[in-house]
Amino acid sequence: MSDKTVLTGIKPTGTPHLGNYVGALKPLIEMAKTNKTFVFIADLHALNIIHDPKQIKQHTYEIAAILVALGLDLNNATLFRQSDIVQVSQLSTMLMNVTPKGLMNRAHSYKAALEKNEAAGADADAGVNMGLYTYPILMAADILLYGTDIVPVGADQKQHVEFARDIAGYFNHIYGETFKLPEPMIGADTGIIPGLDGRKMSKSYDNVIPLFAPESELKKKIMRIITDSKLPEEPKNPDESTIFQLYKHFANADEIADLRARFERGGLGYGDAKKILFEKINSVLSAPRMEYERLMDNTSELDKILADGAACARAVAEKTYKRVHSAMLG
Ligand code: ADP
Ligand code: TRP
Repeated sequence: MSDKTVLTGIKPTGTPHLGNYVGALKPLIEMAKTNKTFVFIADLHALNIIHDPKQIKQHTYEIAAILVALGLDLNNATLFRQSDIVQVSQLSTMLMNVTPKGLMNRAHSYKAALEKNEAAGADADAGVNMGLYTYPILMAADILLYGTDIVPVGADQKQHVEFARDIAGYFNHIYGETFKLPEPMIGADTGIIPGLDGRKMSKSYDNVIPLFAPESELKKKIMRIITDSKLPEEPKNPDESTIFQLYKHFANADEIADLRARFERGGLGYGDAKKILFEKINSVLSAPRMEYERLMDNTSELDKILADGAACARAVAEKTYKRVHSAMLG
């Protein structure tokens, strides 16, 4: 057990897919085995994109059920919903006052929105709400509220963690040592998981395989993976094949070497390779999928887990927030 506190947030903006599983969920569950970990569902962060409460609620349950079904160790990990802890909104308001506006102007996500508008000849800030603009301040509040040392995130979120560190520094400089400075941890390179069309698997490309799709849908999706037109007898390059790239993350070393050899030798058609891939993924995911389905049919069990998590998180949040309040307002 390490003495570091790990924290990460997952936005409930879509149904998690195999790319999220390999790149984010699986490594997080591993980390939670040996570290005190806070994992929360960032529903306040979803608000700048989704304005339908039903969708946010549905994705929140899905993420909670997925983490529990995959075996997140709830003895080390506190699993909760961001909005259940009011102190995060309060801290965000406080942090606004030590955060330079210029820092927000530099955020990649905000800059991307500006560039898109410029390319479209639209007003620079068209479609940008203040939730998007101040997103990094709320994220800093998430991170600083729980005394976080390490924040495992995808590369796209590194800048946000660096901002949290900067904001903690500004605060400490004015009000004295109050916050620990967090560090981003960019996961070991699991590589980019390709989707059905060979591009990065992403909900924005509509090319995903949902992590816990029912067996029949999983099979259908896998059979729809786009391949080139090589005949079964021809040798194939496994490193250029979406089928093999997915297989690598579910099979053991011997199985991977075996499938690699069969690709390179020729004689294995893509249809058969897809069947092998389906059998493998299905065998790894079928037990957790059953547990996932059970939990999604018993959301009161998820409510209880999230309420217990919130009670635990709140105890920490209250202490931190009291210190901030007294540092700033006496
Ligand atoms: P999406 O691209 O579907 O919107 P997100 O940006 O919400 O996915 O991803 C959340 C996290 O899941 C990312 O920070 C990253 O770590 C991981 N992830 C997403 N897609 C992939 C992928 N195709 N390959 C590997 N990891 C991925
Ligand atoms: N911004 C993160 C994302 O888009 C989600 C998130 C919100 C987060 N708060 C966080 C991640 C705090 C790490 C720490 O994926």
